[in-house]
Amino acid sequence: MKSKAMSIPLLLFVLIVIQMTMGEAQLCPGYYSTTCPKAESTVREVMRKAMIREIRSIASVMRLQFHDCFVNGCDGSLLLDDTPTMLGEKLALSNINSLRSFEVVDEIKVALEKICPGVVSCADIVIMAARDAVALSGGPDWEVRLGRKDSLYASQEDSDNIMPSPRANATSLIDLFSKFNLSTEDLVALSGSHSIGKGRCFSIVFRLYNQSGSGKPDRAIDPYFREKLDNLCPLGGDGNVTGNLDATPTYFDNRYFKDLVAGRGFLNSDETLYTNEETRKWVVKFSEDQAAFFDAFVKGMVKMGDLQSGRPGEVRKNCRVVNGPKKRVSVPWLAL
Ligand code: HEM
Ligand SMILES: *[C@@H]1O[C@H](CO)[C@@H](O)[C@H](O)[C@H]1NC(C)=O
Ligand SMILES: *[C@@H]1O[C@H](CO)[C@@H](O)[C@H](O)[C@H]1NC(C)=O
Ligand SMILES: *[C@@H]1O[C@H](CO)[C@@H](O)[C@H](O)[C@H]1NC(C)=O
Ligand SMILES: *[C@@H]1O[C@H](CO)[C@@H](O)[C@H](O)[C@H]1NC(C)=O
Repeated sequence: MKSKAMSIPLLLFVLIVIQMTMGEAQLCPGYYSTTCPKAESTVREVMRKAMIREIRSIASVMRLQFHDCFVNGCDGSLLLDDTPTMLGEKLALSNINSLRSFEVVDEIKVALEKICPGVVSCADIVIMAARDAVALSGGPDWEVRLGRKDSLYASQEDSDNIMPSPRANATSLIDLFSKFNLSTEDLVALSGSHSIGKGRCFSIVFRLYNQSGSGKPDRAIDPYFREKLDNLCPLGGDGNVTGNLDATPTYFDNRYFKDLVAGRGFLNSDETLYTNEETRKWVVKFSEDQAAFFDAFVKGMVKMGDLQSGRPGEVRKNCRVVNGPKKRVSVPWLAL
């Protein structure tokens, strides 16, 4: 038989057709190595500058990967601003007055458009920047798979329906993550992202004063730590005041897990990982073995980064808006 029957152009054509009909991009490491060889180093550089300007901003950018990927895949939908006809994700329950540092993503996009216009997707920027935030904070560094396209729309409702509340218990978090094929180990490791960054009093007052409607504080909180949180977040106080998610909020390390073991988790969704029997063994393991945490974290980030919607996409020029309809280039000699 003709074993080499398929020519390379034909093979490419077939692959492109398969990709178009599936709407799923083939992700791979070094995706931009020929089309934009400086893409990854440019993202790292802008992140480094952002970190120097405001250290928390890189944690805020890292969080964007979670909120983007869980809602219809990692497609940059989170980055779209609302329009008169589209309520996007930015004002969804988990995001409003909470997600921040979108301007860092804009800055990365501007830098990339300057060196290779129209090549690097906003969805990929989020993935690279999240990795860089971890590496720049002293955590692991890893190779990311790239080649995502940016969505053509965003849905506030989808975000509201999917993203977990800070009140969530471990059982509901295990269920949620399993819908994305993420294991209990992935859940606990990925929650370790709270090793960097801050949260608002708004997200914890219920557990300080009225856990599960009991009129009492969450019993899992260490009493000394609770006193500190009560001072930071008095009942009826300013919900926008922020506290550290762990005791070393600018270092990506396993301190977060040690804090959970000691009853010093900031969010209910954090402390519940120690209270629950299924998740506790991972919390304990990661609190004792930072290398195991880093390994599991990287695996979880890559898995989460592989989530795709299968819908058609584009490479946006501006991460906040979809590209307009293509301007029709008038070709006078065709009109003759
Ligand atoms: C397991 C379920 C999760 C829940 C319920 C959750 C919830 C939250 C909440 C409530 C905050 C504070 C927001 C505020 O008070 O304004 C927060 C902050 C943060 N989350 Fe999560 N999160 C989860 C998982 C993740 C994952 C998987 C990542 C990333 C891989 C992540 C990264 C972050 C980061 C870095 C911050 C700090 C952001 C900053 O300082 O601006 N979280 N999260
Ligand atoms: C966990 O939360 C879910 C959803 O809010 C609730 O239905 C369930 O009863 C809770 N489970 C426990 C053990 O508290
Ligand atoms: C989870 O894995 C199953 C089986 O491999 C697959 O059919 C499903 O699409 C996956 N779900 C997600 C959200 O990736
Ligand atoms: C605590 O929460 C419950 C249920 O949401 C509510 O009925 C009750 O009034 C709250 N108590 C206080 C002191 O806010
Ligand atoms: C936090 O600040 C924003 C913007 O200033 C305001 O709209 C919001 O109501 C405040 N949130 C809380 C929980 O106080």
